[in-house]
Amino acid sequence: MTRFVDVRNMIRWTADRGPERIIAGMIDYLEADFRRWPSFDKSPRVASHTPFGVIELMPTSDHETYAFKYVNGHPSNPARGYQTVTAFGVLADVHNGYPTFLAEMTLLTALRTAATSGMVAKHLARPDSSVHALIGAGSQAEFQALGMRAALGINTVRIWDVDPLAMDKFARNLEPLGFEVVIGTSAADAVAGADVVTTCTADKALATVLTDDLVEPGMHLNAIGGDCPGKTELEASILDRAEVFVEFPPQTRIEGEIQQMAPDFPVIEFWQVLTGAVPGRSSREQITLFDSVGFAIEDFTALRFLRDSVDGSEYFEEIDLVAAPDDPKDLFGLVGALSPVG
Ligand SMILES: NC(=O)c1ccc[n+]([C@@H]2O[C@H](COP(=O)([O-])OP(=O)(O)OC[C@H]3O[C@@H](n4cnc5c(N)ncnc54)[C@H](O)[C@@H]3O)[C@@H](O)[C@H]2O)c1
Repeated sequence: MTRFVDVRNMIRWTADRGPERIIAGMIDYLEADFRRWPSFDKSPRVASHTPFGVIELMPTSDHETYAFKYVNGHPSNPARGYQTVTAFGVLADVHNGYPTFLAEMTLLTALRTAATSGMVAKHLARPDSSVHALIGAGSQAEFQALGMRAALGINTVRIWDVDPLAMDKFARNLEPLGFEVVIGTSAADAVAGADVVTTCTADKALATVLTDDLVEPGMHLNAIGGDCPGKTELEASILDRAEVFVEFPPQTRIEGEIQQMAPDFPVIEFWQVLTGAVPGRSSREQITLFDSVGFAIEDFTALRFLRDSVDGSEYFEEIDLVAAPDDPKDLFGLVGALSPVG
């Protein structure tokens, strides 16, 4: 049997455990998996692009466990009543190839993206960071705020979105959790004086939601919305001023902010900061940039965290996903007796 966490159980688990606590726990799991980065199979995700958006498969394996996520990205969806990003994912046992765990991952992706942002900021942002500016108040936004609070203790968030209703929603969701939310009048207004800046907008365009003149020395930039060919958020000259950290360069060069730069533009693989192979932030004035696109190992980790967390609980059910005849060679025997003759 395969364990299955559906939407109802994912909501119950998240609400009962608390999203910020989950993100904090996931940061520990992510750090452990990023430290053993070389032991994973890695490839850029498999993307199917259409004028509507993108559908992607994200596989990886540590040779004990295989994982994949199905995820879409359709920036025009909210205007039609659908979400921009939805997902589900699977863990399988490498020894026999059987799927062992299946989960909804729309919520889990938001939690894992926030945990990844938090993990990276914990190592790259100035430790005394106290103001987080967010550009983009959609589905990921509140989770990103929680990620930075879990990692750095940042309680003050400044928000800017072209949609005022999205900013109201953001404040409504976060103020009860103790955040001080400041609604901006422009990107410049939100970003001025911030320590950490997250860009999480969705537009299938080479957009400039953050311009070079807004970026101040010492800022940590957490750019998560530029994650597809032809879809970026930062003015290219920011990349020249910043030290750029990435997940998996072959994927980020296709999808990330650095798609705007030459193929040999220098980047640092973040896992190497965790192992101590390369330094993280080198001075208070340095601008650090996490050019996040989302990598399969983060989904592997999120599924692993969820699987361990729900073990022994009532947040999953067992489903019959694999047809398994008693005689492994007699698959037809499962249906033969039931089939009409002739
Ligand atoms: N890097 C990762 O791991 C990762 C993971 C999940 C999602 N994403 C990406 O993050 C982005 C946000 O995802 P979401 O689910 O929150 O999308 P969403 O559609 O729910 O929200 C996007 C928000 O951006 C706003 N926006 C668009 N253009 C803007 C602009 N120029 N200035 C200010 N606001 C603007 C929209 O009004 C909307 O409120 C998407 O591009 C998605 O693909 C990345």
